[in-house]
Amino acid sequence: MNYTQLLENEHATLELGKQLAASLGNIHVIYLEGVLGAGKTTFTRGFLHGMGYAAAVKSPTYTLVETYPLAAITVHHFDLYRIGAAHELEEMGFRDYFAPDTLCLIEWPERAPQLPPPDLICLLEVVGLKRNITITAHSEAGKQCVVSLGRISD
Ligand SMILES: Nc1ncnc2c1ncn2[C@@H]1O[C@H](COP(=O)(O)OP(=O)(O)OP(=O)(O)O)[C@@H](O)[C@H]1O
Ligand SMILES: [Mg+2]
Repeated sequence: MNYTQLLENEHATLELGKQLAASLGNIHVIYLEGVLGAGKTTFTRGFLHGMGYAAAVKSPTYTLVETYPLAAITVHHFDLYRIGAAHELEEMGFRDYFAPDTLCLIEWPERAPQLPPPDLICLLEVVGLKRNITITAHSEAGKQCVVSLGRISD
């Protein structure tokens, strides 16, 4: 099951991120896929704003992870682009980031094969000056989220 949308500009990417926050349900792991500059961090920024986080959202390119302890849930935003080897994740104790009271959004998940499986995979593709997003469900919670996302967007 999936949801797809052409995102005309940065604003549309932010808005869909917000809509995802409104239809989250019992989601804990989201993979963000797509080339450099596809819009993964922009989408996460919209998502965090939708979750009620009002301050700046930095790209975790150099820190590997940024953590946002929000009212509803603690969000960990990973960017694994610069990870040298998979064992670096073990050294940062990454397993502790995945818990029933956390939500992990992960850019460049393909760099770390030992990650827990996702509820959703969001693939951003560059289409000329625009972007296309395909959100695919990979769990029961993921399916419910995709269904309610479709309802909100109608
Ligand atoms: N729908 C869109 N249409 C056009 N430009 C967009 C759209 N969404 C985001 N952008 C722009 O794409 C650029 C790169 O976005 P962003 O940093 O979110 O990419 P990224 O996928 O996180 O890249 P990286 O892999 O380097 O972390 C930004 O300038 C942003 O404004
Ligand atoms: Mg990014």
